[in-house]
Amino acid sequence: MSDVRIDDLPVRDELRGTSPYGAPQLDVPVRLNTNENPYPLPEPLVERIAERVREAARGLNRYPDRDAVELRTALAAYLTRTGGHEVGLRNVWAANGSNEVIQQLLQAFGGPGRTAMGFEPSYSMHALIARGTGTGWISGPRDEDFAIDLAAAEKAIAEHCPDVVFITTPNNPTGNAVPRETVVALYEAAQAAKPSMVIVDEAYVEFSHGSSLLPLLKGRPHLVISRTMSKAFGAAGLRLGYLAAHPAVVDAVQLVRLPYHLSAITQVTALAALEHTDTLLGYVEQLKRERDRLADELRAMGYEVTASDANFVQFGRFADAHEAWRKILDRGVLVRDNGVPGRLRVTAGTPAENDAFLDAVRELKKEVELSG
Ligand SMILES: Cc1ncc(COP(=O)(O)O)c(C=O)c1O
Repeated sequence: MSDVRIDDLPVRDELRGTSPYGAPQLDVPVRLNTNENPYPLPEPLVERIAERVREAARGLNRYPDRDAVELRTALAAYLTRTGGHEVGLRNVWAANGSNEVIQQLLQAFGGPGRTAMGFEPSYSMHALIARGTGTGWISGPRDEDFAIDLAAAEKAIAEHCPDVVFITTPNNPTGNAVPRETVVALYEAAQAAKPSMVIVDEAYVEFSHGSSLLPLLKGRPHLVISRTMSKAFGAAGLRLGYLAAHPAVVDAVQLVRLPYHLSAITQVTALAALEHTDTLLGYVEQLKRERDRLADELRAMGYEVTASDANFVQFGRFADAHEAWRKILDRGVLVRDNGVPGRLRVTAGTPAENDAFLDAVRELKKEVELSG
């Protein structure tokens, strides 16, 4: 039986020859490759989670609240408090990570015979989830500084009339934010072309110098803002993502979500984390300072650094980015090669982890200079 491979199965044609997504999970001393928050949850929060999970465990014979009302209400309160725009329960939807939110959006608004567009390099899961949902993928342009060139992007939207447009801000893996006016103009272009749904992926917005684009939801029923607790809340293992949009979008997503998709354990754990929002956002301030220190020190070494509004920094240029990645790994530090030519990405870790990374790239630089 072991000689049967995927291609021997009647698998969908578009999946043949492809590989699953995943950054290497290597056991090295310093892991700065998946944009996680390096700080473990504080002990009082761990205790609170244990308490809420114990309580929820008594009801696990029942299915969870299918509509996650308490959690969505708490997420709406968080967004209203921090996002500069009032949203309520009916504007918010939650799922297992923002990846699942995006999958549900593409199940509802993409699918066979439809297309989605993103401006690349960007978060590669957008294209992969498109593939998984049978949605055609169109790669839109960025300029050589990794910014969205508005005229080129508007032209691409007018030409392809995608059903869904992704705008990732701050962008991953480059780190730069998309100006608000550009998002507004792309929304207008997408409405003129189709009209299409515009998904603004704000996974990293809490690390940004600017503010959330949440206020743009007013009067824009085709706009969706997608968020996550994986980064700023330091809870990547929890798997909790959410969106804010017009209530009709939330209704549409409910047509495709699996019933009881969000376990009772996930719901209460996320609620406990939200009770500790202020403590968790305190770590974000520390990480922003470390992100800026990484950028400054890399620049001082002579590297090119893309301005970052996220919890990571893209740097280069390398004649061979993959070889540089390997050499940094040889020094015990795992960063990310996202396949952007000449560039690597490092996530801001603890000060000690960042020092280890900076030492590794300093040595690498010396090695290259000696051999060159
Ligand atoms: C831009 C962007 N969106 C979404 C996600 C997925 O986050 P989640 O852990 O909520 O699925 C990531 C994770 O790296 C990301 O970089």
